[in-house]
Amino acid sequence: MSAAAFGTSDFIVVANRLPVDVEKAPDGTLIWKESPGGLVTALKPILSARNGAWVGWPGAPDIGGGADDPIPGEDMLLVPVKLSAQEVEEHYEGFSNGSLWPLYHDVIVKPEYHREWWNTYVEVNRRFAEETARVAAEGATVWVQDYQLQLVPKMLRMLRPDVKIGFFLHIPFPPVELFMQMPWRREIIEGILGADLVGFHLPGGAQNFLYLANKLAGYSTSRNSIGVRSKFGVVTVGFRSVRVGAFPISIDSAELAATAKLPETRKRARALRKELGDPEKVLLGVDRLDYTKGIDVRLRAIGELYQEGRLDPERHIFVQLATPSRERVESYRAMRDDIELQVGRINGNFGRIGHPAIHYIHRPVPRRELLAFFAASDVMLVTPLRDGMNLVAKEYIACRTDSSGALVLSEFTGAAAELRQAYQCNPHDLEGVKNAIDEAVHQDPEDGKRRIRTMRRQVLQYDVDRWARSFLQTLAGTVDEAPA
Ligand code: ADP
Ligand code: G6P
Repeated sequence: MSAAAFGTSDFIVVANRLPVDVEKAPDGTLIWKESPGGLVTALKPILSARNGAWVGWPGAPDIGGGADDPIPGEDMLLVPVKLSAQEVEEHYEGFSNGSLWPLYHDVIVKPEYHREWWNTYVEVNRRFAEETARVAAEGATVWVQDYQLQLVPKMLRMLRPDVKIGFFLHIPFPPVELFMQMPWRREIIEGILGADLVGFHLPGGAQNFLYLANKLAGYSTSRNSIGVRSKFGVVTVGFRSVRVGAFPISIDSAELAATAKLPETRKRARALRKELGDPEKVLLGVDRLDYTKGIDVRLRAIGELYQEGRLDPERHIFVQLATPSRERVESYRAMRDDIELQVGRINGNFGRIGHPAIHYIHRPVPRRELLAFFAASDVMLVTPLRDGMNLVAKEYIACRTDSSGALVLSEFTGAAAELRQAYQCNPHDLEGVKNAIDEAVHQDPEDGKRRIRTMRRQVLQYDVDRWARSFLQTLAGTVDEAPA
């Protein structure tokens, strides 16, 4: 590629989604809204601070002009990659969320493998690589994100060998035995190995990947102990060394804490409690409506706790905020029906007119309002069957500025490795989940404060900026080991 063909951006994030989603109003005008999910929450402050470019899909079919028609923003350049309706169906709903998402989340639902989905996944990854190659300045740093784009590192390297490429997986990397189901397993490992640095949330994911790079793809690997914030494994691919490590993601904790402390947030938190009838304890769940999140598990637990009289529907109110997600994928539809049936059944059994036991909202909640919910709630329920990290758990802790509150946390989240003082539970063990909720609701306030204080120290110290710096400095080769 000639020098004239280089773009102008020195730092580029490539993710399936842009940080904003577009919606077409009935009169044809475009409305932009914040995109859902933890990836956007985590990366937006990083990119704003670095004045970079973000290459991604705008969330609706047939919109976007790629590198030819970028959208200049205040603090970043948005490069919208256009996908046709069929590509959305086969790349996004199909291979990404019908094959990879369930496979990487312990096959909670059965992954489907279709050759057409795979072919479109390859095509769409190629388009992302091409658009990125067009916006990247010579020697730029490109950070490719997540499972929807695992082939981009290799494709981009072939187009632009001058750029530095990082890849980070935001979801769990599965056990080797499960990964081996994937019909295109070798292509995926080779795709990721196009990067200079490959990051996972946990050392276990990095170990699984290294094992496969060796046994499946035949590269020589050296495995130092891959501890969090310690050493890396290395894969030798031809003359290149690909480093592989664990980088647990986090949140903009200081900003969240400051917003949670504002008088208007506190005022809104008090108002929310009042609207809920000033119950003794407010329990809260906040998730994308996804079968990995264990929303059904916590509903079952709460229903039984009401039934057994260990919770009182007059005094202990549960609020579930559920953002709509991937609504055209069948397993998501079925799960929504199941959850709404459970909510209806519990309210039918334990609510009274004007006083439901469970409040369920199937809409995204504005950020400020969400923080008021965190500030208003005594017990946060985070019960995924599997989750790469779970930022909601960290957000709740950051917002507990007076150290009150309690966190019930599934052992099967990445966050459980850091938030050791939570009431941890195994989401497959219903009695264990019930006991954890019961303990959290009836905790000794002083013990509770000690727990939250310790977790706040962790979350405030290891924030998202530190995560990004640690990854990017390692990618730049300015540190041999990720800094603590
Ligand atoms: P995932 O990335 O799988 O969606 P995370 O917990 O890591 O899960 O991140 C979810 C992000 O989306 C968090 O920043 C959280 O605050 C936000 N979020 C989740 N549910 C809602 C909701 N109902 N309304 C508004 N924001 C939400
Ligand atoms: C998780 C994934 C992200 C994804 C987000 C929202 O955080 O790791 O890659 O963007 O969920 O899901 P969606 O399908 O709406 O993009």
